[in-house]
Parts: sequence; structure tokens; C-alpha cells
Amino acid sequence: MDITIKPVGLEDTAALAELLVQTVAAGGSVSFMHPLPPAQAEDFWRSSLEAAARGGRVVLGAFVTGRLVGTVTLLLDCPPNQPHRGEIAKMMTAVAFRGNGIARALLQEAERRAIAAGRTLLTLDTAEEAGAAGLYERLGYTKAGVIPDFALKPHGGLVGTVLFYKRVG
Ligand SMILES: CC(C)(COP(=O)(O)OP(=O)(O)OC[C@H]1O[C@@H](n2cnc3c(N)ncnc32)[C@H](O)[C@@H]1OP(=O)(O)O)[C@@H](O)C(=O)NCCC(=O)NCCS
Repeated sequence: MDITIKPVGLEDTAALAELLVQTVAAGGSVSFMHPLPPAQAEDFWRSSLEAAARGGRVVLGAFVTGRLVGTVTLLLDCPPNQPHRGEIAKMMTAVAFRGNGIARALLQEAERRAIAAGRTLLTLDTAEEAGAAGLYERLGYTKAGVIPDFALKPHGGLVGTVLFYKRVG
């Protein structure tokens, strides 16, 4: 599969919103509850892309034949005492495109950009159930621990979160 990874822009807002709504509907733990109103998803991405335009984050998209099929965000706006740290967030691949290496390609590009921005430590968290722990372990992230009952699953019920980190650069 020919996958192109590049930063997304405001023109991708509708496609990002659709991806987020579908991911939440499919049970993905990415901070929102199902059903996620499309307007709320668009608002989220608009403000995220505005933060990216100010340099506080990088929002990457994965494109297959011109269609947005995955995304990940690299957060760079860390507190003043953590200038060496970045955070990985909002990793998702469209359901029909999973299992093709899209998340791997997104994460690898996010890591390259983190290193280019002088970051040496990446952190993230993922749901304990139906999350992406296996993906992060395969890509060399170390499990730091679990916080039980951290969040609600998109369809209800509490779930723990697993914290991961990776030294890069
Ligand atoms: C997690 C998610 C992004 C993976 O996307 P994907 O494009 O299918 O992942 P890839 O095909 O790039 O997988 C890369 C590797 O990680 C492994 N992997 C991916 N997701 C996994 C999971 N949930 N559990 C275990 N292993 C996983 C794959 O088997 C593959 O391993 P391999 O290269 O050794 O064969 C996707 O399932 C998703 O969008 N889930 C819902 C949202 C979510 O939970 N996001 C994480 C928020 S922190």
C-alpha cells in the first residue's frame, strides 16, 4: 500500500472530523464519547490545527490515493521545565485501512519530527482495553505503568490507561 505521510491543514478538517467520529463509534479511546457530533469533532480539529500553526504541535495525516486514512499528533507545547519532551496523541487509522502499517508510518514520522525539534523523550498513554499498547511496544516504547479506571470508554464503562515512554534522538 502506497502511504504518504504529511502535515495536514485546515482544508483537511472535514476528513479529520469524519475519521474521529468513526474511530469513536468503533470504540477507540481518543478522549471523546460516542456518538460524537460532527460539529464537535470539527471544532476539536480546527483548534488543534490552529495550535499547530502556532508551532505547538504537528498534526500528521496518512494519505492513500489522496484520501486521509490516518492521523497522529505530536504535542510540542510542553511546560518550560520539559523542553526535551514531546507527547504522542490522537493516533488513529480508519477501520477499513487497519493492519497495513499506517500507524507505524505515522509514528515513525512523528518521531523523526520530534528529534528534528530537539526532543529526546516521548510519552503517551493508551487505553488498557482495546487500545494500542501492542503497537507502541512493537515500536520500542516502554510501559511505565497503568492507572486504573482512568477514563470512560466511548460506549460507557471505565477503563484504565497505560503510560508509555521512549527515548529518541
Ligand atoms: C491502534 C491503531 C492506530 C493501529 O493502526 P494500524 O494502522 O492498524 O496499525 P499498523 O498496521 O501500523 O500496526 C503496526 C504494528 O503494530 C501492531 N498493532 C497495531 N495495533 C495493535 C493493537 N491494538 N494491539 C496489538 N498490536 C497492534 C500491528 O500488528 C503491527 O505489527 P507488525 O508490524 O509487527 O505486524 C488503530 O487500531 C486504531 O485507530 N485504533 C483505534 C484508536 C486508538 O485506540 N488509538 C490509539 C490511541 S492512544
